[in-house]
Amino acid sequence: MDSIRWTTSDELSRYFAKYGDMLGFIAHIHGLELAAPSFGAAKVLFHSWRPGFIDASEAEVSALEAGSPSTELLERMRDLGWLDEAPPDKVADGLVQRTIDRFPAIQNPVELRAFVGLVARMRPRVVVEIGTAAGGLLYCVSQLTAKDGLIIAIDAPDSPFDACKPNDDDALFARFGPATQTLHMIRDRSGHHGTLVDVERLLDGRLVDLLIIDGDHSYAGARSDYELYRRFVGPEGVIAFHDICMRPQTWGRGHDVGLLWDEVAAGVESRESREIIDPEGSRTKPDFSTPVNFDMPALGFGLLGPAASICA
Ligand SMILES: C[S@@+](CC[C@H](N)C(=O)[O-])C[C@H]1O[C@@H](n2cnc3c(N)ncnc32)[C@H](O)[C@@H]1O
Repeated sequence: MDSIRWTTSDELSRYFAKYGDMLGFIAHIHGLELAAPSFGAAKVLFHSWRPGFIDASEAEVSALEAGSPSTELLERMRDLGWLDEAPPDKVADGLVQRTIDRFPAIQNPVELRAFVGLVARMRPRVVVEIGTAAGGLLYCVSQLTAKDGLIIAIDAPDSPFDACKPNDDDALFARFGPATQTLHMIRDRSGHHGTLVDVERLLDGRLVDLLIIDGDHSYAGARSDYELYRRFVGPEGVIAFHDICMRPQTWGRGHDVGLLWDEVAAGVESRESREIIDPEGSRTKPDFSTPVNFDMPALGFGLLGPAASICA
């Protein structure tokens, strides 16, 4: 039952209403036509990486949490394959699929698949993600982090100058991983001193195993995230820059992560570096205004860490 999660139908319905267009766009470029799911009970069960939802009553969820699900609920889970074991490759494929048809990620799926495989092997205990958006990558990472792990996700989605607004995604995000895992969402800009103080307090001396930098893509923004947050990463930890294929020459002014990555990868001495880039991905900014004839871009992960973690 480790892979079974639940949330309320209100949370999930609100999420799909909010990100319906984004999900529709991503699904469409992958040749899927999605109907928004509707739910008929107070609670909804979902599997960590297998498809499907199951409507459930409060009582059914309580019984499940107590370790004694009803025979009928077990039967419904069995019908969806939720009780079957699977090899890690199948889990990783299922997670990437989740970010295409349920919890959208701003990712190239070939690169995400490679990254997911790497994180699965690392099995981090402490993760910090800067830039969460709709939570697609967070969803994957939540499934791959240790059951008793700690995840701190930072996002200031509303406006650069109007941070800390409560966000209605946070309750659902906290249910992505197993109930024994802890997620703290910080709704503020990563460069604010208060954010840094919050992260330090939440870590409480623990070192970060995986730092994902996917927030502000300007040169100053990404550099600041690297400089401010790398101090929390342990010697065996991994720093992942997303969007290293973005350069002002090909994506336009302000898409600078590639420039920063060149400097960081060339200058780093205590860690190895590795790139994950879809060789088939286009190297220019695609037309995000239409999913028709969409040219999937290479976005690229740049990884810093011990060879044993990032090159395996
Ligand atoms: C490209 S999206 C992140 C995508 C996400 N990691 C995924 O894979 O689906 C970038 C996010 O970073 C957030 N962001 C931009 N600048 C930020 C900053 N300085 N601090 C925190 N979040 C920031 C934006 O609100 C946006 O949601």
